[in-house]
Amino acid sequence: MYTFAPPLAPERLPELLRLMPKAELHIHIEGSLEPELIFALAQRNGVALPYASVDELRAAYAFTNLQSFLDIYYAGASVLVTEQDFYDMTRAYLLRAAQDNVIHTEIFFDPQTHTARGVAMETVVKGLHRACADAQAELGVSASLILCFLRHLSEEEAFETLEQALPYRDKIIGVGLDSGEVGNPPEKFARVFARCRELGLHLVAHAGEEGPPAYIWTALDVLKVERIDHGVQAIKDPALMQRLAQERIALTVCPLSNLKLCVFPELAQHNLRQLLDAGLAATVNSDDPAYFGGYMNDNFTQVFAATGMDARHAYTLARNSFEASFIDETTLSRYIGQLDACFESFR
Ligand code: ADE
Ligand code: ZN
Repeated sequence: MYTFAPPLAPERLPELLRLMPKAELHIHIEGSLEPELIFALAQRNGVALPYASVDELRAAYAFTNLQSFLDIYYAGASVLVTEQDFYDMTRAYLLRAAQDNVIHTEIFFDPQTHTARGVAMETVVKGLHRACADAQAELGVSASLILCFLRHLSEEEAFETLEQALPYRDKIIGVGLDSGEVGNPPEKFARVFARCRELGLHLVAHAGEEGPPAYIWTALDVLKVERIDHGVQAIKDPALMQRLAQERIALTVCPLSNLKLCVFPELAQHNLRQLLDAGLAATVNSDDPAYFGGYMNDNFTQVFAATGMDARHAYTLARNSFEASFIDETTLSRYIGQLDACFESFR
């Protein structure tokens, strides 16, 4: 925990949370598709949806676990067809993130969801990348792309996906692992992650969202990932907690996602505060904001209100988000300078 933050009247905390510069390190771009955009793209592309209206679709967002969400999430992504669709989706997310004072974001995308429907890798990557480049130029937000392999599919299919992505290697900073966790342990992807490591890609993986602490251990020891996405189940394993703290391995925690997918019954029972107080490098992220009822600042303000965290936790979370990111040292110093200036202004 950092102690840089000034003493602050509790009623000013939400303002500080909104204004502080921050990085988002766990956002699935397909999970930023708002129902209105899903319907607009479905119409543009002549894609039939199994829902009659935006309201009917939104009413289906009542999830009981990860898989119940993924079924609807993959159906929603089926409206993405052209490069412009991928651009429009990413543009909308980046505009929304900038409103929340997100100044850096590392965006996950699931190419297999699209290539399986006959959409070319080129279409996906070019649309996403153009939106990222425009965000840097027009919004001053730095954005980079992390390709996620779907863990319910085979390692062979992951290798094929990597092969298709290699012509766009310069537009991708890393790879991740997402989709249904339980029954698909990290070690299933040992060889493809080893290959990505040789290629100089950064490595991350979802682990310990619904799955056991053992999956966090193998994500670290077999896949050799640099960050753990979610990781909240680590709390069940004291030896793992000690390791994550000692090695400063960042967890990209997603409070509203965990609430909506019933990982915790109430936000007041979320363990983010315990993770931070135990010295882990936790961060706050939105995961799939269009489905889980909130973007970055909603996640911050709601989890702080529910768990009673203070300005020191806020500083620590924002600072962790920059330190756990894959930006260069010069940019990191600049962003921490911006963060410190924001906190100074509340002194
Ligand atoms: N894909 C999109 N959101 C996800 C999540 N929370 N866990 C695993 N895979 C995902
Ligand atoms: Zn996720």
